[in-house]
Amino acid sequence: MKDLQGKVAVVTGGSGGIGIEIGRAMLAKGMKVVLADLSAEKLDAVTKDLASPDVVGLPVDVTDFDAVCALRDQTLDRFGACHVIVNNAAVGAGAKGNVWEHHLNDWKWSLDVNVMGVINGMNAFIPLLVEQDEGHVVNTSSGNGAYYPIASSGIYPVTKSAVTTLTECLWGQLRERGSKVSASLLLPSSPTPGVLATGIWKAGANRPDRYLRGDPDDANPRDALEDYKQRAAAAGQEVVEAPLSDVADLCLRAIEEDLFWATYELEHQMQKLDERYASMRHLTPPDYLVEVNLMSADAEEREAQKGER
Ligand SMILES: NC(=O)c1ccc[n+]([C@@H]2O[C@H](COP(=O)([O-])OP(=O)(O)OC[C@H]3O[C@@H](n4cnc5c(N)ncnc54)[C@H](O)[C@@H]3O)[C@@H](O)[C@H]2O)c1
Repeated sequence: MKDLQGKVAVVTGGSGGIGIEIGRAMLAKGMKVVLADLSAEKLDAVTKDLASPDVVGLPVDVTDFDAVCALRDQTLDRFGACHVIVNNAAVGAGAKGNVWEHHLNDWKWSLDVNVMGVINGMNAFIPLLVEQDEGHVVNTSSGNGAYYPIASSGIYPVTKSAVTTLTECLWGQLRERGSKVSASLLLPSSPTPGVLATGIWKAGANRPDRYLRGDPDDANPRDALEDYKQRAAAAGQEVVEAPLSDVADLCLRAIEEDLFWATYELEHQMQKLDERYASMRHLTPPDYLVEVNLMSADAEEREAQKGER
C-alpha cells in the first residue's frame, strides 16, 4: 500500500510499548488508527497522550473471537473503513523450568494470546480486506521464533514460530489467489544496540484468573528486564535501550513497500540463522541452541544446575 494517507489501521496490543509507537508512526503518516488492548483506562491515557482526532482506543481481548469481530465492526462504525490490521498483542508468561515442567496454564495463556489472538485477528479482518481487494496484514513475531529459538525461553518461541509459519502461509495464499492484499512478518528489532524495553519483559503481569498457576509468583510477576540488567552488570556488561520508534519505522516500511520480512539484519542473528540452516541442510546436531543466554529468565538457576551435574 503505497499511499497510507487517510487509510484506517487497527493495532492490537495498542497500549503496549511497540503498539503505541506503531500508532504514533501511523498518525504521522496521516492514517486513522484504532489502538486495541485489554485495559480501557490505559487506552484512555495513551490516546490522550497522542492527542489526535484520528486515534481511538477500543478495549478488546484478542483471545475472544466475538470481541475481535466487534472490534472490526466498531472500527467500521467509527472510521467507515479498515485497511490494515496489525496483530501485535502478546504475552510472556514467565514460565519457569524446562519445557516439560512449565505449568499448563502458562502454555494455555501464551497459546491463546500469541497464537489464537493472531488467528482471531486474521479470521475477523482478512475477509473484509480480501473482499475490498485492498489492505495489509502485519503479524508480530520475534527473532526468537523466526531465526532460531533461545532454547531456555521455551513457550514464547513456540508461539512466535507459529506466527511466523502462519504468516508465511497467509502470504502464499494471498499471492496464489492474486489478491492485492499482502502480509508482513514484523520481527521487532533495532539497528541501535540495546533492548526493546517494553511491558513484555514483565512476564506474567496482568495474568487473567483463568490462567493462574496457584503459586506466589502469580501475584508477584518478575521483571525480567531488571533481572537481566543485574546479571549483565555482574558480568561487566551494560544494558542500553534501543528506540521503539525503529520498530514502528520497520512496520510502516513493510506496509508501504510490501516487505514480508520486516526486520533489520543484525549480524549475530544472521550468523545464528546460517548455523541453523547449515545444521538442517547437513543433518548435524543443532549446537547453535547451546549457549549461555543472560536474557534467559532463569539463567542463574540453569548455570547452577549445570554445575551440579
Ligand atoms: N519488546 C521486545 O523485545 C520484543 C521483541 C520481539 C517481539 N516482540 C513482540 O512485540 C509485540 C508487542 O510487544 P511489546 O514488546 O510492545 O510488549 P508490551 O507488553 O508492552 O505490549 C503487548 C501488549 O499486548 C497486550 N495484550 C496482552 N494480552 C492481550 C489480550 N488478550 N488482548 C489484547 N491485548 C493484549 C498487553 O496489554 C500489552 O499492552 C508482541 O507481539 C511481542 O511478542 C517484542
